[in-house]
Amino acid sequence: MTAKVISGNEVAAEIRAELKEKVAELKQKGIVPGLGVVLVGDDPASISYITSKAKGCEEIGLYEETVRLPADIPEEEVLKVIDGMNKDPKFSGILVQLPLPDHISVDKVINFISPEKDVDGFHPVNLGKLLRGEPCPLPCTPHGVQQLLIRSGNDPAGKHVVVCGRSNIVGKPLSAMLVQKAKGANAVVTVVHTGAKDMTYFTKQADILVAAMGKPNAITADMVKEGVVVMDVGVNRIPDSSKKKGFRLAGDVDFEEVSKKASHITPVPGGLGPMTVTMLLYNTVEAGIRLAEG
Ligand code: GUN
Repeated sequence: MTAKVISGNEVAAEIRAELKEKVAELKQKGIVPGLGVVLVGDDPASISYITSKAKGCEEIGLYEETVRLPADIPEEEVLKVIDGMNKDPKFSGILVQLPLPDHISVDKVINFISPEKDVDGFHPVNLGKLLRGEPCPLPCTPHGVQQLLIRSGNDPAGKHVVVCGRSNIVGKPLSAMLVQKAKGANAVVTVVHTGAKDMTYFTKQADILVAAMGKPNAITADMVKEGVVVMDVGVNRIPDSSKKKGFRLAGDVDFEEVSKKASHITPVPGGLGPMTVTMLLYNTVEAGIRLAEG
């Protein structure tokens, strides 16, 4: 079998076109959703992410403002910036780019963002709602995985989804989403991680495999069954002097070999990356609507 490559770029463009129309309608009513982005330090990957986020906002007509702060800024100064954004009606959504420098508590910062403006879906209130199956902003990468599955004809309902990785950003929220008795979910979910004695025992049983471990080429062909649907969330920078930027991107999946066995697979780049940014835009629009409605 040779896998069909699922284009995140194409599906993201489709969703962005829908969002652009919605934003134009809102503008007629005098509503312009806005995104406030906070970046602490100058991590190159983070700069690349926030640049895509700003471009995405511009593309669909959202207001966007990025505040860049030095890496040695005291924690309370970061909280002050968030406090200002919490109170400012220009911002329907606030995103603090992670990771943060070690002297700043991620939990404190996330907890300080108003849950109504938490477009990452990372606030404990929103994660609690997610677990309970209540309406809430869905974390962007997990939502991107779900949308890419649905829109590529791979509804997870009734399937065995094996999620590799248990991060707060991807693995944990994605498993909570897909296990819900809801449209686009209702899957049997297994979460595997570094604590598994034999990861392959689990991954071989996957109808849908999500690789979110942050380890390049960790999923090899011998770890999957014929016909599996593979979502590769990994974005790993591999030093490569033949590239202008000095690196190339690799996913968590050995694409070349696994695509010989899979029925569908996402590439890196051009898979989940554009989907994550698009679902952030989606959350910002939705937050803008909710705030306008009071
Ligand atoms: N760093 C890597 N992924 C993310 C994300 O989805 N949101 C934020 N805020 N930071 C990240």
